[in-house]
Amino acid sequence: MDTDRLLRELTEFLRIPSVSTNPSHSADCRAAAEWVAGELRRLGCRDVQFLASDTHPVVWGVGPEVPGAPTLLIYGHYDVQPPEPVDEWTTPPFQPTVRDGKLFARGAADDKGQVFCLLKAIEATASQPPVNFRFLIEGEEEYGSRVLFELLRREPERTRADAVLIADMAYVAPHWPAVYTTLRGLCYAEISVRTAKSDLHSGEFGGAAPNAHEELARLLGRLKTPDGKVHIPGLYAPVRRPSKVELATWKRLPFKESEFLKHRVRAKALTGLKAHSVLERLWALPTFEIHGIMGGFTGDGAKTVIPAEATAKVSLRLVPDQKLKVVERQLAAAVRRLAPKHVQASVKFLHGADPATVKVTHPAFKLLDQAFREVVGRGTVPARAGGSIPVVPALGKGGAPVILTGIGLPDDRLHAPNEKLDLKQLWDGIRVFGRFYELLGTMDVS
Ligand code: BES
Ligand code: MN
Ligand code: MN
Repeated sequence: MDTDRLLRELTEFLRIPSVSTNPSHSADCRAAAEWVAGELRRLGCRDVQFLASDTHPVVWGVGPEVPGAPTLLIYGHYDVQPPEPVDEWTTPPFQPTVRDGKLFARGAADDKGQVFCLLKAIEATASQPPVNFRFLIEGEEEYGSRVLFELLRREPERTRADAVLIADMAYVAPHWPAVYTTLRGLCYAEISVRTAKSDLHSGEFGGAAPNAHEELARLLGRLKTPDGKVHIPGLYAPVRRPSKVELATWKRLPFKESEFLKHRVRAKALTGLKAHSVLERLWALPTFEIHGIMGGFTGDGAKTVIPAEATAKVSLRLVPDQKLKVVERQLAAAVRRLAPKHVQASVKFLHGADPATVKVTHPAFKLLDQAFREVVGRGTVPARAGGSIPVVPALGKGGAPVILTGIGLPDDRLHAPNEKLDLKQLWDGIRVFGRFYELLGTMDVS
């Protein structure tokens, strides 16, 4: 394997700041899409197209036809999360840098490095694997995948396949590759409160006028109590506790709550529902998080003002069998109920996703397990994921197994400063997926 060349090529891809949520990066998203399209053409795709290209294009590719062979749909995303706070990066987020065998850059693990891995694995095999490849590499995953949803609804036939492969996750621990049986869903919203027509002098009015930030803080405080319980009526009703068997398998995973606190969270204590294990809290329970609070005075210096409006960006993670549409209604109703009469409260939904459940019994999972076993010496363990990939439920609708896996490690710092990918994971991954394609080529699809 020519790792120098591969590293140069991945570096080129990672240099493109394809931040999908920020309109000022639209041209960069397009450049990243072009980069992917170029790779697909080099892989011999007959048909490479930009679909729904009025926003960040979905890159579609159809590999060389292999009559009678299985069809594998590869899904991934070329967009990345914003790099801020940029000061906290040791080297700049879009200047990929290798230190100590790790490649540091925004998108190194999520998901450009992994898309790169799946593509390079095709040419890493001795001969072209006997698989009908289809590629669906989108540019809005980090922003809710709205365009792709539309596309899948309009053209469900396009993505019909014998299996879907997604590498946008990590091993559960070093040396422990995984396949994921659930992903959490997401309900992202802005909660706003207005308390007066305009801001007021805090000396003239303080003591007698309502304060929007104070009302918002109280409202948020009522939505989740310090014990970690989310106070939204009906929210937990459809949540199913994992089976005893599944909880027992989690106990055997190389996961220690104390290590998780010390090395990954790096805080003083863990929070959340104490009656449930940390893995259960991360994988099988809904959450409510506040991402940021806007409004009032936050500039340099001091200004004595009572804010009339305040807004919080929040999200809930959803688990099987919660439904996004239902949770949206429940959150809106809870906010209405919890806001005092003198406060005008509103909820605006930005994006979201249903939780996903996949069965890992299809023969294709055995083949991936075998590929990992042969290359890295251990097969895949079934686990759950706390994160979300919005289109997974839609990709599974056609009945094909959706293989959720990845070559990342738990300490890759996705969405955070100093995101990285261990190069060993990448080189191993290229061999693993190359072997998987070869094995998949032998799968009977008649
Ligand atoms: N690759 C992640 C999803 C993920 C992360 C799955 C960790 C499992 C473990 C994906 O790119 C992601 O970050 N998704 C967003 C989706 C959202 C913005 C709609 C997420 O989970 O926040
Ligand atoms: Mn991702
Ligand atoms: Mn992500």
